Amino acid sequence: MKALTFIDLFCGCGGFSFGLERAGLKCLAAVDLNPEAVAVFGRNFPHVQHALEKDLTRFNPKDLAVLIDHAAVDVIVGGPPCQGFSIVRQADGANSGVRMVEDPRRHLYKEFLRFVGYFKPKVFVMENVLGIRSAAGGEYYARVQQEARALGYRVLPRVEDAFTLGVPQKRRRQLFIGTRTDLPHYFTEPLVRPTRACANSSLWMAIGDLPPLAAGTGDDDTAYDIECRDRYVKQFGRKYLDEVYEVGKSKTLTSHKARPHSDRDLGDFAKLREGENSKEAIKRGVKFDFPYDKETFKDRYTRQHRKEPCSTIVAHMSRDGLMFIHPTQNRSLTAREAARVQSFPDWFVFSVPRTHQYRLIGNAVPPLVGEAVGNAVKEHLKRAVKPTEDTIFRTSSPIPTSRNQALAWLEELVCAVDAKQLRKLPDEDFKRGWYAVGFLFPFLHPDGALESGCRVSNEAPNGMELKKVDPRLVAPFFEQSGWPVLLQPVAREAHRRHAAGGLKHHELYPSEALVAALWMPKEALWMPKEQR
Ligand SMILES: C[S@@+](CC[C@H](N)C(=O)[O-])C[C@H]1O[C@@H](n2cnc3c(N)ncnc32)[C@H](O)[C@@H]1O
Repeated sequence: MKALTFIDLFCGCGGFSFGLERAGLKCLAAVDLNPEAVAVFGRNFPHVQHALEKDLTRFNPKDLAVLIDHAAVDVIVGGPPCQGFSIVRQADGANSGVRMVEDPRRHLYKEFLRFVGYFKPKVFVMENVLGIRSAAGGEYYARVQQEARALGYRVLPRVEDAFTLGVPQKRRRQLFIGTRTDLPHYFTEPLVRPTRACANSSLWMAIGDLPPLAAGTGDDDTAYDIECRDRYVKQFGRKYLDEVYEVGKSKTLTSHKARPHSDRDLGDFAKLREGENSKEAIKRGVKFDFPYDKETFKDRYTRQHRKEPCSTIVAHMSRDGLMFIHPTQNRSLTAREAARVQSFPDWFVFSVPRTHQYRLIGNAVPPLVGEAVGNAVKEHLKRAVKPTEDTIFRTSSPIPTSRNQALAWLEELVCAVDAKQLRKLPDEDFKRGWYAVGFLFPFLHPDGALESGCRVSNEAPNGMELKKVDPRLVAPFFEQSGWPVLLQPVAREAHRRHAAGGLKHHELYPSEALVAALWMPKEALWMPKEQR
């Protein structure tokens, strides 16, 4: 099968791209405005013809299209900068409520969507920090979804947990997965830990074989310590070394150089027990020498624990490494150790000065996460082929044969909602109504209704036929999920019946209804305004 192709926007050093390529996808182009990011990307992806140093607020998708074959873009991925949504900013109230501080980086998702709107890939995946969910009372979280729907995508927000995917780190991120509405399948594929990774990985599995260092020592390019490695292999075997870090492909060890620390900091580090932060140490009576306000900086230092996943590797490591003190050595983690915790292989070279290395590594999507995303997208697109008549007619499900029939089934459902009889409807009757929803609202995802937020819009775009059945089928609707407020309980009921065994998986996600809808004239359906 031909490899699926993708573009990586805001590509950084290429953590996301690298994972997708490991899943078998092919990168056509990657764009970032940061010269160090593009240099590292270019060095590690020599086969990618277009690693472009461009400001995406000024770069026109048309100009990218002349470089690559327009029709060939299957997937667009990207992680617009997250500083604008970072929870760290919430400490000063800057990301919430009335104290929301305007930050232009929050609008960069629009550049991502501009490329999606132009190239119309089958799938897009946008990654961000969890802070986007709550920033400005959830405004951006809702906007991303609403604006992507208007471009013709069915959007599924998912929280991804890197640790469960084999990354030895506590790291949870927000994904927005968009699938083009003319591909008649709901994205339901779970993210699965790649086979190369293990469950319950720990910091020591990531770095336990690396040569010990004192603060301020080490080289940019150094030898592995074979004795250390032997001890490691006795404890953990070779799986991680061979399959995740691919140590066999790297003759020397790069970026394993410990940053220097002041004597005062080193003295303070030495007071911490393994797995302890300064707040906990203060509680047991330890006195630190740091001159900061002791209230504000209570958990400033953290010594990581060998047997635990590491704390979230962040770009901020480029400034200091105080929250990433080595579990057994008196220093902060090296850039290579941080890269290991992010699941980069050792041959991935960070050929830029150290502060940039930390920033690029901290910003990256861990390759194991990228690989899991790539595998899920591949699985999805295997299923999401254009329908044939054969696909439609070989089913015993209640497929509406005309718009009028779908509208009539929907009306029965609305009556049941009004009469508060939804729960009492027999499964067969409920299913008919539910398939009518799939048929008439192909841009809604059943899972979206479980997370609609509270922002409601009354701006009914169109959908005359639906309005005739009941104007509430068009507005008000939830900005975030797109679900009409009236139908939200219907979707919840569908999930309840599925959990109780009344609806099968393919009935909760009635792709057959989407397939059937594709055979009907598009203008009959209620679509977000911009799509018409
Ligand atoms: C969170 S990082 C992306 C990391 C990347 N996904 C990875 O896996 O390595 C965000 C990136 O956006 C880039 N960036 C910020 N503003 C940009 C702009 N206006 N145009 C292009 N890139 C931008 C930054 O340089 C940074 O590398």
